Amino acid sequence: MNVAVLRTPAGEAALSRATSLAGGDPLAAAAALRSAGVPPDLASAALTQATLRRQAVVKFGVDAEHLFFTRAGLEQATRSVVAERRAARLVAAGVRSLVDLGCGIGADALAAARAGIRVVGVELDETTAAVAAANGAGLFSVVQADATTFDVSGFDAVFCDPARRSTGGRRVFDPAAYSPPWDFVEGLAARVPRLAVKVAPGFDHARVPPGAETELVSVDRDVVEATLWCGELAAVPRRATVLRAGVAGELTGSGTEAAPVGPVGEFLYDPDGAVVRAGLVAEFATLVDGRLGDPTIAYVWSSAAVATGFARCFRVTDVLPFSLKRLRAELRARGVGTVEILKRGSALDPAQLRRDLRLSGPASTSLLLTRVAGAQVAVLATPITFEGGQASPGNPGDSGADA
Ligand SMILES: C[S@@+](CC[C@H](N)C(=O)[O-])C[C@H]1O[C@@H](n2cnc3c(N)ncnc32)[C@H](O)[C@@H]1O
Repeated sequence: MNVAVLRTPAGEAALSRATSLAGGDPLAAAAALRSAGVPPDLASAALTQATLRRQAVVKFGVDAEHLFFTRAGLEQATRSVVAERRAARLVAAGVRSLVDLGCGIGADALAAARAGIRVVGVELDETTAAVAAANGAGLFSVVQADATTFDVSGFDAVFCDPARRSTGGRRVFDPAAYSPPWDFVEGLAARVPRLAVKVAPGFDHARVPPGAETELVSVDRDVVEATLWCGELAAVPRRATVLRAGVAGELTGSGTEAAPVGPVGEFLYDPDGAVVRAGLVAEFATLVDGRLGDPTIAYVWSSAAVATGFARCFRVTDVLPFSLKRLRAELRARGVGTVEILKRGSALDPAQLRRDLRLSGPASTSLLLTRVAGAQVAVLATPITFEGGQASPGNPGDSGADA
C-alpha cells in the first residue's frame, strides 16, 4: 500500500469515491471506480483504505475518517481512548518530549502529540513508517529505523509497544519473540529514567521490570492491554483502569493482598477483568465490604449493594448445589426462558448447558456457575444497576454500574 499515492489529488479523489462505495459489494465498488476512470491499482488501494477506515471507527471514532491504516497496523494500534489516557498521564508526569519505539501507524504518537508532547516515532517497516508519517503530518515526526539502535538520549521519556506477532502475522505470547524483543525492553527499563511499555493483558507479572507499575486497562469490560510504567513513571505496584462509556475508574493496590473468605451473601460481584488480572480483588472486596466464597475464585460476596464501576453486581435469589436436573426444574418452575450464563471456577460449557436446560418461558435470570468452599454451585441472580447511587434491577447482560 502506497500511502503517498493516496495523498495526491487523484488519490484523494479516488479515496473519496471509495469511501462512499465501501461496505457494499467489493466487486461492484471496484467496477464503479474503474468506470469512473480510476486506474485499477489506485482503485484497489483506495478501496482497501476506505474499508480499513470503516473498521477503524471502533478504535478511533470520527478520526478514522482521515487517518491512514495498514491492516496489521490497525489491528495492533492502541484505541484512542486508551492512548489519550496514557498521553495525559505522561503530560502529568512532566514529560514534554517522547520517543515512541515501534510506533506502528502512530496511534499512541498521535495522542501524545495532541496532548502537547513533542514526539518522534521510530518504525522499522517502510510502509508502516510512511503511514505513520501521513498520520503525524504537522503533529509528530517519524524516522524509519531500528528501535534497538536508535539514540533515545535527549527525550524526557521512552514509549515502546513491541509487536506481538510473527512475520506471518500470528500472535506470539513469549516476550522473547516480541519485536523489539523483550531483552531490549528490559535493558531500556534499566537505563532510561522514564519508560512506558504496552504489553498484552496476560503479561506475566514475574517478568515486570523491578519497581515498575503494572496497569491493566479494560474498555467496556474487555481487558485490552497492560502498560508497564517504569522508573520515575511508576506510582503504585498495580492499577486497574476501567473505562466504560467514556468514564474511567481506577483501583490501585499491591497486587499481593489476599481477600477474606467467608459465607455467601445477598449480593455477588463479578469484578472487571482489569481488576482480576491486576490482582486487586482483595482491594475491590474492601470497597464493597465483601469476601470470597472460595479462596481461588474471584467472585465477591457481600451483604451490601455498593455502587461500583469495578464489577457487575447481582442480587442473589438462590445458591443451589449444582445438579442439571434440579436447576432445570427450578428454572422451569419460575417460567425462565432466557438465561445469561456466567462462570468462574466451573468446567461446564455454557452453550451446552443452555441446550441441556431446554428452557422456555417469559422470565429471565442470570445464572452464575461457580464454587463455594470447594463445592460446585449454581447461583440464580438478578443484575442490578446503580442509578444515581441507588440500586435498581437491570436486565441480564446489562452493563451494570458506570465506572
Ligand atoms: C504494536 S505495533 C505499535 C502500535 C502503535 N503503538 C499504535 O498504537 O499505532 C509495533 C510496531 O513496532 C514495529 N517494530 C517492530 N520491531 C521494530 C524495531 N526493531 N524497530 C522499530 N520498529 C519495530 C512494527 O513494525 C510495528 O509496526
